[in-house]
Amino acid sequence: MSALAVRTGAINLGQGFPDTDGPPEVLDAAVAAIRGGHNQYPPGRGVPELREAIARHQQRFYGLSYDPASEVLVTAGATEAIAAACLALCEPGDEVVVLEPTYDSYQASIAMAGAAPVFVTLRPPDYRLDPVALRAAVTPRTRLLLVNSPHNPTGTVLDRGELEAIATVAVERDLLVVTDEVYEHLTFDGREHVPLATLPGMRDRTVTISSGGKTFNTTGWKIGWLCGSPDLVTAVTTAKQFLTYVNGGPFQPAIATGLDLPDAYFAGIAADLQAKRDELCAGLDRAGFGVFRPEGTYFVTVDIRPLRPDGDGMAFCRELPERCGVVAVPNQVFYGDPAVGRHLVRFSFAKRIEVLHEAAARLASLAVGGSDGEADHGEASP
Ligand SMILES: Cc1ncc(COP(=O)(O)O)c(C=O)c1O
Repeated sequence: MSALAVRTGAINLGQGFPDTDGPPEVLDAAVAAIRGGHNQYPPGRGVPELREAIARHQQRFYGLSYDPASEVLVTAGATEAIAAACLALCEPGDEVVVLEPTYDSYQASIAMAGAAPVFVTLRPPDYRLDPVALRAAVTPRTRLLLVNSPHNPTGTVLDRGELEAIATVAVERDLLVVTDEVYEHLTFDGREHVPLATLPGMRDRTVTISSGGKTFNTTGWKIGWLCGSPDLVTAVTTAKQFLTYVNGGPFQPAIATGLDLPDAYFAGIAADLQAKRDELCAGLDRAGFGVFRPEGTYFVTVDIRPLRPDGDGMAFCRELPERCGVVAVPNQVFYGDPAVGRHLVRFSFAKRIEVLHEAAARLASLAVGGSDGEADHGEASP
């Protein structure tokens, strides 16, 4: 879809990456590290100053205490952390219980480990976790629960009750848990992100994953990390050793600088993004979509059926650049059974407000009876 955006010159609200740079302190620290000669392989577990900053961050925001020497691992983005965790913690034939829709690398990582996903589906309109479905998904073969909150693509921020339901199942069934918290600082309307590792009985069975990409607008740097008990971190390090070994030497100290920024920075990015969410959601609403307002992340999912009764999200996304100069992603790619998400489409609002304003104006032309009369022109094949 990004290639389609480039080819058609459309506004790319498909792939989730910001169109502004991160904080100057972080960028300057990377430049200084490059100029200062930090350009060779960093240590396998990451530069000590970043591991220490990660540990300080977990303590400062969540009261979680990790030993930077044995309980923190720096990875090539959260993506590598997820892959390495699946490879390290699963055996062929194991099952991984995962929230659906799923961020697209999860299914690939589970497959690479020879394991099988078992989906617990979050359903619109509110995309909450159903504890009964969660419990039913666990079998004697379940090895891991793979959780994502704040959740891409639905924007759900799991609340304490939902997290307690996960923790109860994990403790009762003695399961390991991997949680992907890359949007930890991007929650709205005062909603609190609660790491699963803070719940009773969870710290030592949970591998907590995050990344600097979303928090510091540095998605191209691919600096991620994970925290967990020494045994789990050592196991994941062993798999990571032969994936990338290490990455991003000069970017690691820069992300350390970011993690130590004052609280106002973290509150500021959430407030900024909340305003962007409101702008885009209002535009999507005006265009006539069914809008599922997200509680966090930088994505919003819509139901296209008011505009396209056949609900073919894939065809809709393929046509959208030509029809109104905007790119979105069909949510069916996030489902084990694509039919479940066929009528759903995801837009990203991690863009400058004027870009979102323009995108909203373009999308408004899709409104049934809209000025260009194109709303019924939805039959072209992909
Ligand atoms: C839920 C989720 N996890 C992980 C990632 C990837 O993070 P990274 O770029 O740090 O590998 C993304 C990126 O969109 C994501 O949405």
